[in-house]
Amino acid sequence: MTFDLVTQDPHTKARAGVVHTDHGAIETPIFMPVGTAGTVKAVQQRDLKDDIQAQIILGNTYHLYLRPGLEVLSKAGGLHKFNGWDRPILTDSGGYQVYSLSGTRKIKEEGVKFRSHIDGSQHLFSPEGVMDIQRTIGADIIMAFDECTPWPCEYDYAARSLDMTHRWLKRCIQRFDSTEGHYGYSQTLFPIVQGSTFKDLRVKSAEFIAEQGREGNAIGGLSVGEPAEMMYEMTEIVCDILPQDKPRYLMGVGTPANILENIALGVDMFDCVMPTRNARNGMLFTTQGIMNVTNKKWAEDFEPIDAELGGYVSTFYSRAYVRHLFQSKEMLGPQIASIHNLSFYLWLVKQARQQILAGTFREWKEKMVKQVMTRL
Ligand code: GUN
Repeated sequence: MTFDLVTQDPHTKARAGVVHTDHGAIETPIFMPVGTAGTVKAVQQRDLKDDIQAQIILGNTYHLYLRPGLEVLSKAGGLHKFNGWDRPILTDSGGYQVYSLSGTRKIKEEGVKFRSHIDGSQHLFSPEGVMDIQRTIGADIIMAFDECTPWPCEYDYAARSLDMTHRWLKRCIQRFDSTEGHYGYSQTLFPIVQGSTFKDLRVKSAEFIAEQGREGNAIGGLSVGEPAEMMYEMTEIVCDILPQDKPRYLMGVGTPANILENIALGVDMFDCVMPTRNARNGMLFTTQGIMNVTNKKWAEDFEPIDAELGGYVSTFYSRAYVRHLFQSKEMLGPQIASIHNLSFYLWLVKQARQQILAGTFREWKEKMVKQVMTRL
């Protein structure tokens, strides 16, 4: 994997770049739709490509390891072959899901012992094991095994956890660098900065991560309940330390405003379940603001969901029709809403990129942050 830094915005810390992988290029800043179990929920690959124009999607080690399991994924020839997505894939390491999903878990130096949320069976995730699993899944970008601390978090816990995450990273790197991909294309390992909302821990972690000299770096442990201003403060501290010439990925963020603000601080890659999860509850993100499509207000609004977006579902279906689908609990409602919301997120980052390239990002961002968060 390589990264070309194309432009740096003169007025903010925003950047435009291109990540090159063996499954194609990714223009940054980019939003990556979340495909937890090897599927972006309710969305076909064809729609991800043609309508949404996704350039890279996510998968989760935790879910894919439990189901369908490594034997099936290996026999299929990896996740790309299994699900038919031939563009880049990034897998999260389980360093987040194992805490949020499995009921009982024990964190030790060796790794994390947990019970499956599916059948209660016992498993161990170690840094080495998680590297091997992600090799088998076959993601282009694989993530280090970390502990994502909850918020708020005691300083002593955050400091001890950070040291362990750093020791785990060394083990991840050792295993990753002494193994090869199974399917003939190259894979790369991104380390993850932690440190909760403590400035000195974030500085320590960012310096440690930068020293490892990997091809890209990630920021974790944010958007876990802390105020947005605190998240921005941490992102800025960390981005100022991470190398300029490598992509920076902020994990699990966020609202359209969060994405624009973090782009301005130097983040290049984002993922979040928000556009798809909220779509399934009838929340639509549009260029004019946020609408709850189940509201009676839209019952006779025959305008398209969002004429400005230009994608197929956003211009073809009316607000009234989508509301009717949700009222009737028709499956098509969540499908249309998911495709539309992802189209919006991909539109937003594409616009941001164009504004960065044109040197007009700062003014545009100030206007858009207000516009896209307006309640309609
Ligand atoms: N997804 C959102 N935040 C995190 C994090 O801190 N670590 C990992 N591995 N995944 C995440």
